[in-house]
Parts: sequence; C-alpha cells; structure tokens
Amino acid sequence: MSLSEIVASTEAGILTLRINRPDKKNALTNAMYTGLAEALAEAGKNPGIRVVLFAGCPEIFCSGNDLQDFLSAEGSLNDLPVGRFIRELGGFGKPVVAAVNGAAIGIGTTLLLHCDLVYAGEGARFQLPFTNLGLCPEFASSYVLPRLLGHVRAAELLMLGEVLTADKALAFGLINEVLPPAEVEARALAQAQRLARQAPEALRITKRLMRQSYGDGVTQAIAVEMDHFSALLKGPEMKEAVQAFLQKRAPDFSRFS
Ligand code: COA
Repeated sequence: MSLSEIVASTEAGILTLRINRPDKKNALTNAMYTGLAEALAEAGKNPGIRVVLFAGCPEIFCSGNDLQDFLSAEGSLNDLPVGRFIRELGGFGKPVVAAVNGAAIGIGTTLLLHCDLVYAGEGARFQLPFTNLGLCPEFASSYVLPRLLGHVRAAELLMLGEVLTADKALAFGLINEVLPPAEVEARALAQAQRLARQAPEALRITKRLMRQSYGDGVTQAIAVEMDHFSALLKGPEMKEAVQAFLQKRAPDFSRFS
C-alpha cells in the first residue's frame, strides 16, 4: 500500500494497520478508508495473514471521520469509502486486535466494537459525539451499546457524547485491559501472536458463531443507521456543528426545531 497515512506491515502472519496522520489527529479521509478497506479485503483472502492489528500514533488513536470530508460528502454513506470500510471490517472473518493510546473518537471508537481484543493505555479516552455534530450513531453502535451497557449508560455516550475514560471503558466491557501507554502495543501484539498460533479454521468459526449471537441485528442496524446518517449529513445541524468545529467555536443549535 502506498498511502503514507495508513502504514501496513506484515510479520509472522500479523497484518498491522497503523493510522498515521498525527497532524490531523488521525482523522480518517476517504483515501484512508479506501486503504483500510482494501487491506482488509486482501487480508481476508490471503492465507498467510492470520490476524489484523489496528494501531494509531502514541498520542492519538483516531479522531474519527475527517470533518472536512463530511462537509463535501455526497450520496449515501453506503457508497462512500467509509461504507466500504464498515462492510469489510463488519464482515471480516479473521481475528482483529486493537491497540489504543490517546483519543478514539466517532468511528475511532465504533470500529473497536467490531474488534475481538482491545488493549488501551491509561490515558486513552473514547467518545461518540454524533449528536454534538448533528449526526446519529453508525457502525451498529446504536444496537451494540444499549445491549452491552444498558440504555441509560449508552444514552450518556450517544446522546450527550460524554467522554469515557479507559478505566470506565474497561468496567463497561468495551476493552480488555488498561496498561501503561508504552506497553499497549507490545501487549496487543503478544495477544495477536497467540491468536496467530491458534487453529485458523476453528477461530474463524468461533468468530462467526459469536457474531451469530446478534442474529442479523448488527447488519440491519448498520443499514438503517446509514440511511439516517446520510440524510443528517446533508442537513443544517451537521453543517452548523462542523463549521463551528473548524471555526473553533461552540455550535449553536438554538435556531433548529
Ligand atoms: N477531522 C478533520 N480535522 C481534524 C479532526 C477531524 N475529525 N480532528 C482534528 N482535526 C484537526 C484540527 O482541525 C486541527 O487542524 P489545524 O491544525 O489545521 O487547525 C488539528 O487536527 C489538531 O486538532 P486540535 O483540535 O487543534 O487538537 P486538540 O489536541 O486540541 O484536540 C481532538 C484533539 C481530537 C480532541 C479534537 O481535534 C477533536 O475533537 N476533533 C474532532 C473529533 C470529532 O468530532 N470527530 C468526528 C466524530 S463523528
């Protein structure tokens, strides 16, 4: 892959996909989603790849979708590179591990709901500021989180966009372990290496069975969320919120009903 903002490296059956755009806090552009989606599609077909490991930069995991790209987005989310990434990761058959340091915002957090093991640094924080941006949840977060946390705790995250510390994310069952930041990647890699040594067919079937416990709820939620998200992307609330972010001011939703 030639994209410098997604650095792919393979060693001993583990494909590491590192998000590497620190000057923009690892916000994901259309090109980066395409790079991630293509890497996952190839990894799914390549018998030499046993496990995928997501990593970010030392100070930031991912600040979510590039907000400039949101302003220029056209059509349905499903047809955009982000839609392709969601399909690839949501249906990926091999184990996925994530190492998180710093902030994981928006899809930076929702993608973790589709990983199998997640290790985070002590300073990691998780946030889903969809409504703060005049948007709604994506990547089945409106389906998975209420089931995992209960409605009221999910509402704090999805309706208020509250920040979740690493310790709270651990208590909520969203991540496996909280570690000193310098140890996160080594721990995630060690667990990926363990997975890479497991029987691959047994692992794939196990992952499929765990997914089946949700029935087709996740797939349906992704599709319905995408419809609403795509409509909100064209709406005035999102435009106000993103312009406010880019102008470094608080959004003002008082004129909307
Ligand atoms: N999309 C586009 N640009 C982003 C971005 C995003 N999601 N997140 C950060 N950036 C850019 C900023 O615009 C800024 O660019 P500039 O240097 O050209 O002005 C640069 O990255 C640094 O961001 P800044 O906000 O100054 O850093 P910070 O350390 O004060 O805060 C964050 C870091 C991640 C907490 C903050 O940038 C943020 O909240 N980002 C938006 C997150 C978001 O809402 N994502 C979408 C979820 S659906």
